[in-house]
Amino acid sequence: MDVISIDGFECAGHPGEDDIPGLVLIPAAVRALKIPVIASGGIADGRGMAAALALGAQGVNMGTRFLCTREAPVHDAVKQALVAAGERDTNLILRSLRNTARVFKNAVSDEVVALERRPGRRRVRGGAPSRRRPARTGGPGVRRRPGRGWCPPAWSSA
Ligand SMILES: Cc1cc2nc3c(=O)[nH]c(=O)nc-3n(C[C@H](O)[C@H](O)[C@H](O)COP(=O)(O)O)c2cc1C
Repeated sequence: MDVISIDGFECAGHPGEDDIPGLVLIPAAVRALKIPVIASGGIADGRGMAAALALGAQGVNMGTRFLCTREAPVHDAVKQALVAAGERDTNLILRSLRNTARVFKNAVSDEVVALERRPGRRRVRGGAPSRRRPARTGGPGVRRRPGRGWCPPAWSSA
C-alpha cells in the first residue's frame, strides 16, 4: 500500500464506531503510519486543507464538497439542500448495527434513527469484525478504509 486515506468522525458515509475527529485522528495516523496520509472528513475549502496539512497529512480527500460542484452529476435540488444545510443537519444511522453512516438529515434518516431508538430492538453486541489494525500498521483509532459495501447517503426526499 502506497498511501492511506483516513476519515475522521466528521466524514460523510462511514465514520467507523470510535468517533475520533480529524483533529485527533490525522496526527495519530501520521504518527503511526510510515506511508503518506490523506485526510478525509469535513474538509470543504482551503482552510480545512491547510489545517489537515498542518496536522501532517500529505493531501486531502473531499467528498461532500465535490458533490456540490457543477460537474457532479447530481440533481441541483440535492446540491441546493446541501449548501443550505448547517453543521447539525446530518444523522448517524445504523449505529445499533455498528455500521454507522453519517447521512443527510431528512424524513427518511430521522425515521431510521427513531426506529433504532425504539425499545425492544436487538442491539448487535460486538458488531462487525473489527477493522482496527495492530499498532505496527496503525495504532488505536487508526482504521483502514472500509473494504465492503457502501451505504449511500440518504440525500433525497427532504
Ligand atoms: C456521494 C458520496 C459517495 C461516497 N462513496 C463512498 C464509497 O463508495 N466508499 C467509501 O469508502 N467512501 C465513500 N464516500 C466517502 C468519501 O470517499 C470520503 O471519504 C468522505 O466523503 C469524506 O468526507 P466529507 O464528505 O466530509 O468530505 C462517499 C462520499 C460521498 C459524499
